[in-house]
Amino acid sequence: MKKLLSASILSADFGRLADEVQAVEAAGADWIHADVMDGLFVPNITIGPCIVEALSKATKLPLDVHLMIEEPGRYVENFAKAGATLIGVHAEACVHLHRVIQNIRELGVKPCVALNPATPLCMVEPVLPDVDMVLLMTVNPGFGGQAFLGNVVPKIRECRRKIDELGLATLLQVDGGVNPATAPQLCQAGVDVFVAGSAVFNGNYRKNIENIKASIDCGVKSKS
Ligand code: DX5
Ligand code: ZN
Repeated sequence: MKKLLSASILSADFGRLADEVQAVEAAGADWIHADVMDGLFVPNITIGPCIVEALSKATKLPLDVHLMIEEPGRYVENFAKAGATLIGVHAEACVHLHRVIQNIRELGVKPCVALNPATPLCMVEPVLPDVDMVLLMTVNPGFGGQAFLGNVVPKIRECRRKIDELGLATLLQVDGGVNPATAPQLCQAGVDVFVAGSAVFNGNYRKNIENIKASIDCGVKSKS
């Protein structure tokens, strides 16, 4: 399938979010990635449903909402109403993971399950058929601009193998430290959706996105 780039607004100028989202849309991003942090599951605090609602009004692109919060089940309805296309919850933060995933789907949103770098894949294997996407973190969540953790790559390969073995359409996403230098190995490992924040928002957005897209197509330049 076509590889997709989800631009993480964590590295955007928060004073001009609507303009920033429109700028990366015009520059060729496929999705917008919104990082929600609660100061508990991760040390940082970012945005809530009202900002997600503002983002959804500013762009036509799918809105990929990554919840880095404790007990995310408490808030999935708020984020669904705010206009999320996909909602990602961390397996580490859900006592009843399957129930939360079902709730997201019942709300008409695509469920995604996320894993921290140190969490083994077996945590999500039982729900692989129930989610639209698996997100494997390639940094410890909480901040943009951190260094890519290459030791996650074997887990990414294993996840690709399991998805294919089961004949599922589940997408495989990575998030953290993605840039033109790290993306080719991720592409080879079978990643479908690449989240990038600092590699998109530092410098010229169009050039940055072109460079990342060239590297996520396993080195083959796209025609557009
Ligand atoms: C980190 C967030 C990421 C972050 C990635 O916890 O989940 O989405 O924006 O930033 P970069 O691409 O700069 O590593
Ligand atoms: Zn994220």
